[in-house]
Amino acid sequence: MERTFLMVKPDGVQRNLTGEIVSRFEKKGFTLAGAKVLAISKDLAETHYGEHKERPFFGELVDFITSGPVFAMVWEGENVIDEARKMMGKTNPSEAAPGTIRGDFGVQVSMNVIHGSDSEESAKREIELFFQKDELVTYEKTINKWV
Ligand code: PPS
Repeated sequence: MERTFLMVKPDGVQRNLTGEIVSRFEKKGFTLAGAKVLAISKDLAETHYGEHKERPFFGELVDFITSGPVFAMVWEGENVIDEARKMMGKTNPSEAAPGTIRGDFGVQVSMNVIHGSDSEESAKREIELFFQKDELVTYEKTINKWV
């Protein structure tokens, strides 16, 4: 079963959106395999966002993601990587459709509430970066036969 890495960013945690966001993925029918609150170090932030290090906003992005606790999650389900990206909405909240997380809760691109892996490769990399194997649980939900 496919897995993805999702993270409520510091703005989402501060604005008490964590429960709402978890609830959306739960109600959609995905399964939570692991979750934790953590403060991201500068090193971890620079590794996580390494592919963007040449972009002009890299410093701002690292400062923002280390500015307060985040809520890191691993979600499991059919096509969860792409489905979660759809549920998040476009990167810039001003372009994100209503009904998406960023469309409903975000205002500016530098504080866009949630991060989600954009490919199988990045999901694998990000899950391994943020979680130890024994922090992730594989289990069947009986409700899954209904979704
Ligand atoms: S994406 O979703 O990866 O295609 O988006 P991208 O435009 O490549 O942006 C990569 C991450 O950088 C964040 N971002 C910014 N942060 C601060 N300021 C500006 N202007 C800005 N533009 C983009 C964006 O939210 C992406 O972070 P994540 O955590 O991957 O969503």
